[in-house]
Amino acid sequence: MNQREQFSTRLGFILATAGSAIGLGAIWKFPYVAGQNGGGAFLFIFIVFTFILALPLMMAEFAIGRTGGEDAVTSFKKIAPNTKWHWVAILGMITCFILLSFYSVIGGWVITYLGKAMTGSLNGLHANEYASVFEQTIANPWISLGVQLIFILITILVVAKGVQGGIEKAAKIMMPALAILFIILVIRALTLDGAGKGLAFLFQPDFSKLTSKAVLDAMGQSFFTLSIGVSVMITYSSYLPRTENLPRSAVSIVSMNIMIVLLAGLAIFPAVFSFGLAPDAGPVLLFHVLPTIFSQLPLGMFFFTAFLIVFLFAALTSAFSMLEIIVSVLSKGDSMKRRKYAWIIGIAIFIFGIPSSLSYGVLSDITIFDKSFFDLADYAVSNILMPLGALMMAIFVSWKMKKSVLFEQLSSGSNISRGIFTSWYYLLRYVAPVLIFAVMLDVLGVWDK
Ligand code: PHE
Repeated sequence: MNQREQFSTRLGFILATAGSAIGLGAIWKFPYVAGQNGGGAFLFIFIVFTFILALPLMMAEFAIGRTGGEDAVTSFKKIAPNTKWHWVAILGMITCFILLSFYSVIGGWVITYLGKAMTGSLNGLHANEYASVFEQTIANPWISLGVQLIFILITILVVAKGVQGGIEKAAKIMMPALAILFIILVIRALTLDGAGKGLAFLFQPDFSKLTSKAVLDAMGQSFFTLSIGVSVMITYSSYLPRTENLPRSAVSIVSMNIMIVLLAGLAIFPAVFSFGLAPDAGPVLLFHVLPTIFSQLPLGMFFFTAFLIVFLFAALTSAFSMLEIIVSVLSKGDSMKRRKYAWIIGIAIFIFGIPSSLSYGVLSDITIFDKSFFDLADYAVSNILMPLGALMMAIFVSWKMKKSVLFEQLSSGSNISRGIFTSWYYLLRYVAPVLIFAVMLDVLGVWDK
C-alpha cells in the first residue's frame, strides 16, 4: 500500500525518470532515425524540439502529477472532475501497451546478442559476418519470440513486486557504467579510418536536404526518447514531495538524455562510414555496427558483454515505466491486484507483440499500408499516439489548469522567475499545440506532394 512513498528521495525520482527516459530511444532509435533522415540537420532539429517542446512538456506532466498526486487517470479526474480529460491518461495507457509490444522485440535482440557474446559464439568472426549472423538469428521465430518473452517476463516480475529500491541501487552503478562504456566506444569509433566522414554526417547540417518528414520525425523522436505524452512522467511525479524542484529535475533528465544521444551518434556514425555500411539501414543499424566496433578493441568481447548488460538494463528500466503506468491505474495501490494485472497485461502485451517479433522473419513479406507489423506499431506510437498525447497535455495544462496552481508547482522548492514561468506557460498554450498539430497534419499526408 505504500506506493505513495516510493520516490521520497530526490535521487530515487531522478533515477526512475531518467531510467524511463534513457533507453532504446537514445541508443537504438536515434541513430537509425537520424541515419534515415540525413544526420546533421536532423540532430539539430531534434535538439531544438527537445528544448522547446519536450522539456516544457515534461515540466507540464510533472505539474499534473504532483497536483493530482494519484495514478494518471485519477489525477486527471481530480484536477478536472466531470470532464473527459482522463481519457488523455487512458490514451497514454494504450500507447504504452503498443509501445512495449515492439520495444520488447528490440529488448529481445539485446538479449540475443548478450547470449552470443557470453557464450563466445561471436569470437573470430569477420567484421562483415556479424550482420548476417544477426539477421539469421532474429529470423528464427523461436529465438525471436523466446528472447522477447524473456524481456517481458523480467518486466512483469519487477512491476508485479512494485520494488523500486533494488532498481534504484542498481541504477546508481549502471547509469555511470553506461556513460563510461560509451566513452570507450566513442574513442574507438573516432580513431577508426575514415571516422571524419561520420562526424561530418552528424555535425555538418545540410538544411537544404531537410524534408518535412525529417522535421516531424525529429519531433516524434524528442517525445519518444523523453517518454513524453503517455502519462509516465505524471505517474512518477505523483510520488514526489512538495519540496522537490520540478524544473531542475526536468533539466537534469533532459541533459543526461541528450548526452547519451550524442554519445550514441558519436559511436555509431564514424563506424558506419568507416566500415562502409549504410546509415539508413533502419532498426537493425545499431545491431550491425556495435559488434563490429567492439571486435576492433582489445578485450572486445569483454567490453561488448559489459555494454550489452548495461544497455539491457537501460531498456528494462524504460520498459518498467510502460507497464507501471498501466498497472498503477488498474491496481490503485492494492498489491494483490498489482501482481495480478502485471501478469495479465504483460502477457497480453507479449501476445499482441508476436506479429512485430516475426516481422524480421516469417512475416517479413506481410505489409499493411506498406509497413511491416513492427514498423506500423512503431509508426503509430511515435508519429501518431505520442504527439497526440503531448498535444492534449499541452492544452490541458495551459488552458484547463489554474495559472496560480501551476506557478506554485513549478516554484515550490525552486526559484523560477516569473519571466521563465510566463514563457513556459505561453509556449505550452500557443506554440506547442500549433507545432504538434503540424505532426498530425503530416500523418494525414498534408505535406506530401
Ligand atoms: N523513453 C524511452 C526510451 O527512450 C521510451 C519510452 C517512451 C518509455 C514512452 C516510456 C514511455 O527508450
